[in-house]
Amino acid sequence: MLPLDPERLPVHVAIIMDGNGRWAQERMLKRIVGHQRGAETVNMVVEHAWQVGIKYLTLFAFSSENWSRPAIEVRALMALLKKYIRKETARMMRKNIRYNVIGNRADLPDDVNETLDDAIRQTSGNTGMLLTLALSYGGRQELSRAAARVARDVLAGKLTPEDISVEKFGSYLDTGGLPDPDFLIRTSGEMRISNFLLWQLAYTELYFTETNWPDFTINEFNKALADFQSRERRFGKTSDQISLRTEPLNV
Ligand code: FPP
Repeated sequence: MLPLDPERLPVHVAIIMDGNGRWAQERMLKRIVGHQRGAETVNMVVEHAWQVGIKYLTLFAFSSENWSRPAIEVRALMALLKKYIRKETARMMRKNIRYNVIGNRADLPDDVNETLDDAIRQTSGNTGMLLTLALSYGGRQELSRAAARVARDVLAGKLTPEDISVEKFGSYLDTGGLPDPDFLIRTSGEMRISNFLLWQLAYTELYFTETNWPDFTINEFNKALADFQSRERRFGKTSDQISLRTEPLNV
């Protein structure tokens, strides 16, 4: 495989980490074992993204719809998340990585929220990679929460309907202030977005692999990044306009 071009890396990589359950079931193991192995893949991916110089990494760790899974799996996932964050915060400090969370935190158990708050507070001064965990996250839910915030600000006289541009509306989303993802990876062979970052993925390059998340390796991550580097992003322009451009695209 050709080495990655550091000048053409995606600034923001988002990942739908799918296939933990199938990985476990194929091995006659409990689904939670798949999630545990998935957490090890998270470690590897965070480390590698940091190493190659990706600035923003966003991981879909628990969707709004995942609440309807069996209570035992939900509890185990929450416990795993809490354990992961507690255990890995020291490493995030060493690597200068800052934690961020998107999603409806009001639905998360108090102890998980406390652990997240601690980790966010501890890492808040870090200036390296921003690691965003999407928890209790759904794109439609995020959009409707943003619309409600906009409506409240209009009612309070802080905003007029004419002020609502694409940029302004984007600033009301959970991801306000973050650049849109350049690259989305989904594991386990499903070809869906599954209510992830619906607004933000408008011009994102999509990459799907058959590999289940616990089996996703550094090599596969590099292969995906190399695939990204082979693509031409036109943002609605023509190929000629892109090759002639001297200024960065304003997107
Ligand atoms: C999807 O696989 C994965 C999840 C619902 C949870 C993702 C969680 C982790 C990777 C581990 C914990 C996360 C962190 C950030 C430490 P699935 O269960 O839907 O798989 P299936 O489609 O094969 O059933």
